[in-house]
Amino acid sequence: PRTMIEPFRIKSVEPIRMTTPQERLQMLEAAKLNVFKLRAEDVLLDWLTDSGTGAMSSAQWGAIMVGDESYAGARSFFRLEAVLQGITGMAHFIPTHQGRAAEKVLFSSVCKQGDLVPNNCHFDTTRANLEFNGVEALDLVIVEGLQPSLIHPFKGNIDLARVEEVLKKDGHRVPFGMLTVTNNTGGGQPVSMANIRAYAQLLKKYGKPLIMDVCRFAENAMFIKLREPGYENTPIKAICQEMFSYADGCTMSAKKDGMVNIGGFIMLRSDEWLDPVRNMLILTEGFPTYGGLAGRDLEALAVGLEEGMDESYLRYRLRTAEYLGEKLEAAGVGFVKPTGGHAVYIDAKTVLPDMPVEHYPAWALCNALYLEGGIRGVEIGSVMFGKRLEDGTETYHSMELVRLAFPRRMYTQSHFDFAAEVIADVKAKAREIRGVKIVKQSKYLRHFTAEMAWV
Ligand code: F0G
Repeated sequence: PRTMIEPFRIKSVEPIRMTTPQERLQMLEAAKLNVFKLRAEDVLLDWLTDSGTGAMSSAQWGAIMVGDESYAGARSFFRLEAVLQGITGMAHFIPTHQGRAAEKVLFSSVCKQGDLVPNNCHFDTTRANLEFNGVEALDLVIVEGLQPSLIHPFKGNIDLARVEEVLKKDGHRVPFGMLTVTNNTGGGQPVSMANIRAYAQLLKKYGKPLIMDVCRFAENAMFIKLREPGYENTPIKAICQEMFSYADGCTMSAKKDGMVNIGGFIMLRSDEWLDPVRNMLILTEGFPTYGGLAGRDLEALAVGLEEGMDESYLRYRLRTAEYLGEKLEAAGVGFVKPTGGHAVYIDAKTVLPDMPVEHYPAWALCNALYLEGGIRGVEIGSVMFGKRLEDGTETYHSMELVRLAFPRRMYTQSHFDFAAEVIADVKAKAREIRGVKIVKQSKYLRHFTAEMAWV
């Protein structure tokens, strides 16, 4: 048989509330044409993010019941610590409530004003936390990674020649190098083992540690298994262990490949930064053995990390995005290729080629997907990355994308078939899609709260 089935069966279900197009129009207008302001119950397929939105397994729910809620030295801490030491080979486990807390604690403990950190692409919160500490965040992904329709197996790779230039010229400003696996900002694209290894060696030559942002490390490992010669027969866990072996530390939002609804951590190989990091943790997150999480959260994560590395799960996971990609290709809808691990990024300019950028085509497409089929995605275009300058002029982003990010183990193939039909219908009616203008906006991260009107 050719169909790849979901490698699980469903034990507990949550109904989806069905809505009509008329109701959705009313709700979207009440939400000021901004899908972030919708109530989740009014959405049929909620593909806003894959972060913290997935389904936990019965084994995870079982583990929740044995969580040790002791303030200090809880058994659940030691259980998770052992799991993480086994995967990463790093000694020190510092739990945080989510990814950006790990970033905040690490950066504010070890970076200083005027520093510079290279990365393939910094995720928004990573960049924001660095910049908040006066650190310059430099994106050095390979040029192939910036061309949506170009096929390349590892579009998340970092450009080593450019990294070396930075190290030669500004090495004194670099406290560590970073690498994001998979590269979310660049379309959920993987980084090859060869690139991780070479980047680590290059940093080492200049005496710099490598800190990886590992939210989607298991998806990255599966891409390595599928695409990098020599890894075809290597178990996923061994691939993960090798990836981590090149790093000196990592930050993680466990809300992704940790398969949990909340959680994060820092791992460090040496104890050089441990004291300042733990002190900052105590100040802003909690005692070092719980760090802003409940004991039950630590237990669910200990189980979730192992489940997230299951090969049949990962095969199905990557196939999901690829499957939707094939349907979009057939419908003539452009998207970032090849499809990444956790999401499909639709190129709105291929659906709305005639809509001027001033009418925010990716935002307009996002609204159209909701109106047509109750699908909630997120605009990654000129509302998110453009700005209104002091003098009132607007700047625009180079790409107009809509990200559909998939919660883990939550939606079945028929949900994806339905979505593909909705997207094709939207493309067929593209002439009727209305652009928007911004009526009210905030200075930072305006997409979350912006109020829009039809143009
Ligand atoms: N790093 C990456 C690569 C991420 O994708 C995220 C979150 C974070 C760090 C921050 O983690 O949310 O737990 O504080 N990405 C989510 C998304 C929000 O929708 O892509 P967090």
